[in-house]
Parts: sequence; structure tokens; C-alpha cells
Amino acid sequence: MRENRPPRPPRGWIDRDAAIVWHGFTQMAAFSETSPIIVDSAEGHELIDTEGRRYLDAISSLWLCTLGHRVPELDEALVDQLGKVAHSTLLGNGNTVVVDLAEALARVVPVEKPHIMFASDGAAAVEQALKIAFQYWWNMGERGRTSYLALGDAYHGDTVGSLSVGAGGFGSDLFDPIKFPVVRTPGYNDPRWLEAALEALRDRAEDLAAVVIEPLVQAAAGMRIGDPDDLRHLGEACRESGILLICDEVATGFGRTGSLFASTLCDLSPDLMCLGKGITGGYLPMSATVASKKVFDAFLERASDSADTDRTFYHGHSYGGNALAAAVALRHLELIEERNVLSNVRARATELKEALASRIATLEAVSEVRQCGLMVGVELVPPAPPTRLGRLVSQAAVQRGVLLRPLGDVVVIMPPLTVRSDEILRVVEVLRESILEQCAASSGT
Ligand SMILES: Cc1ncc(COP(=O)(O)O)c(C=O)c1O
Repeated sequence: MRENRPPRPPRGWIDRDAAIVWHGFTQMAAFSETSPIIVDSAEGHELIDTEGRRYLDAISSLWLCTLGHRVPELDEALVDQLGKVAHSTLLGNGNTVVVDLAEALARVVPVEKPHIMFASDGAAAVEQALKIAFQYWWNMGERGRTSYLALGDAYHGDTVGSLSVGAGGFGSDLFDPIKFPVVRTPGYNDPRWLEAALEALRDRAEDLAAVVIEPLVQAAAGMRIGDPDDLRHLGEACRESGILLICDEVATGFGRTGSLFASTLCDLSPDLMCLGKGITGGYLPMSATVASKKVFDAFLERASDSADTDRTFYHGHSYGGNALAAAVALRHLELIEERNVLSNVRARATELKEALASRIATLEAVSEVRQCGLMVGVELVPPAPPTRLGRLVSQAAVQRGVLLRPLGDVVVIMPPLTVRSDEILRVVEVLRESILEQCAASSGT
């Protein structure tokens, strides 16, 4: 019967995609009209679409690809691991490459005598941290600590727990009825954020299990930057009160800020730390929750426990500690050192800052430029009548071969950490041209 079917008309990749793939954070009815790029391959810092067009990946494929694409050493680590084993479960058993990775991470994370639980996405790492914090107090015999303090403008992922500590926005307010309540104090955008957080820590001293923050930069809020001293102060207050501190470094971790971890820049030593995104250099889905010895030890059975006491953490994901991802993550960590990546971040960040100051911040359509290391948010003045200026500017940049993606009217620049000076200048010039073009178009000139 198959032979008698009429041949299928040839369809473009966008049509084929729209017919079958459901894209996150995307209105699918309009997907085809938004000129999406369908990537076929990549080389270095560039993505290549099905028509052979090249795009400088100035968002590191949503903040992941720290060293760009097709990094020979990471490719090799992956292939070598394939010759050993792709995956074996970490539930109750171990895997050599995961032990190697955990040991390597333990040497660099600012967490006291850490133990590391792996998962696959940033949101899952946050979810684990929230549940660990809750059970920590349960295991310590304190049953009333069931609340979390989280900041305004926070974003911690899309699972229901991580959404609950997030501050909403991005269309997620719809889910309010299924989120759990948290103690919410303002984010870094408010100069009084620390004062408010400290006050809440005092007021809710009896029922808070943990404080959840994105250290230094609230990235998804459009790069809202906190003062490192304020963050240190909050860390000290947590330590004094015993309330656990969860640092979500999913966006800031692995060199983005010019330090391997933003917590280090703020002198923070969190009880729990969440890692994701750049952990495998954008190769494979992996995330991790790092727990301090104090937290980990609360989950160990004690001789004095009664028969019905069970301190075990009943939680774990099927792909947690995937061996292929672990092999790549391990090699990635070495490469950050070998290639002197952090020095490059700091040098390019300085160049980027100068270029943004002279070519972007001076534009009438730009209200603010916020930058920390190689994390940048260019806030556009919302036009009247409102149009999606951030999206239009980003699309104009894509037309010019630079891949940008906005957060509302904030255009985000998050290039690979190995970005070169000429690429920095290209991104800034393309952004300038795109802003000027779109402002001229919207004013009808
Ligand atoms: C600070 C922070 N935490 C958590 C997440 C969620 O990570 P994922 O998308 O991998 O679930 C993100 C994603 O942008 C993030 O910026």
C-alpha cells in the first residue's frame, strides 16, 4: 500500500519543524512567520543554518556554549567515553567518570566539604536544593521550617518548585494557583533589597528553611546586578541565623562573571549551590546540586536513630550523572584552566564595556546598559505605542548574522567565553545598526 501513496511535496525545514516540534516559550501559531533559524551544523562561535548562512552565536545558545561549538577536545572526550559506557544509573551505584568529575568540581566550588547530586536541567538542580533544604530541617527535628525567602525578579526555572521561588513573569503568572507561597522581598533592582531581605530573615526566623538567590546577577531579570558587599552581608546573616543559603549559579557559573563562580566574588560559601547550563560547555544536559558537609551529614543515619527514623533523601532522576555528560563536563573544567578562559572573559568584558558605552548607551532608544563579565542586558526604551522592540531589534541582528535573543525589551548579549575582540566589536556594531533601523522603522522615517 505504501508504494501507491502520492510523493510528498517538498517542504522547507521551517514548515517541517512547525508541523511537529513544540518549541518552549514560543507561540507556535506564529512560529513560521518569525523567521526562525533551523540550525544544521556549527563551527567555532558560529551556527550554520539549512541554507548555509552563518550566525555568530552571541547568546551562547541560551547561555550554555562557553567555548563555542564543536570544540575538538570536548568532541574527543565524548567519543572516548562512548568507548567505555554512555550511561549507568547513579541510584545506589557509581560510575568512575562521575567520581572524577565530582572530585574536580569539589576542588573549585566555594562550598564546604561538598557532596554533589547530579540532575539534567537547571530547574531540576534548584528543585533538588529546595527539597534538600526542607528535609535538612526535618531530619534535624525542626518540623516548622517550611518556607523559603526568594527575591523579586528571581528566575530559577520552570518546574513547579523552581517557578514558586521565581518571581513570575514570562507568562508564568498563569501558574500561580499551583505554586507554593514564599516570602518575597525585592530584587537587586531595588536599592533597599538587602535591608528588606534582612528584615524578613529576622521576622521569619522561626519558619524559614532557606534563602534562595542568584548570586551577583539576576540574569533572566534582564541582568540586574547586586552589590557583592550586600550579598556577602546576606550570606553572613544566613550563617548567623542558621537559615540555609541556596546560591543558584545556573546562569552565573563556569566563568560568565570573570570568576569561575559568582559566589566567590561575593565571599559566599553557600550551604547548597545549583549548577547547570555551562557545566558541559553546552554539549549535554547536566546539572548539579552541591551540598555542604553540614547539610549532607544531616541525611546520614545515626546510631542513636530509632527504627522508624529514615534520613534518606528519596529523590533522583533517571539521567542524573550521565557518564557522557560527566566526561565532557570534566574535560570542560580542565579546558577553562588550560585555555585561560577567565582571563579572556575579563579582557573581552573590558572591551565590551567600552564599546557599549560609546556605541550603544549613547543611543536615544537605550535607557540602560547593565554588564557583569560577559553577561549584558541592553534595556531599550519601550516605544509608544508599544511594539516588541526587543524582539524586532534581535530579529534585525539575526538578519545581519548575529544571533541575539531578548528578554522583553532587554536585548541580551552572552557570547561564548572564548569570544575574540573582533567578534565583540561586530556584535556591538550589529546591535547599533539594528536599534537604529528598528527605531527609524517604528517612527516611520
Ligand atoms: C538562575 C537560573 N536558574 C535556573 C534556570 C533554569 O535552568 P534550565 O533552563 O536548565 O532548567 C535558569 C535558566 O535560565 C537560570 O537563569
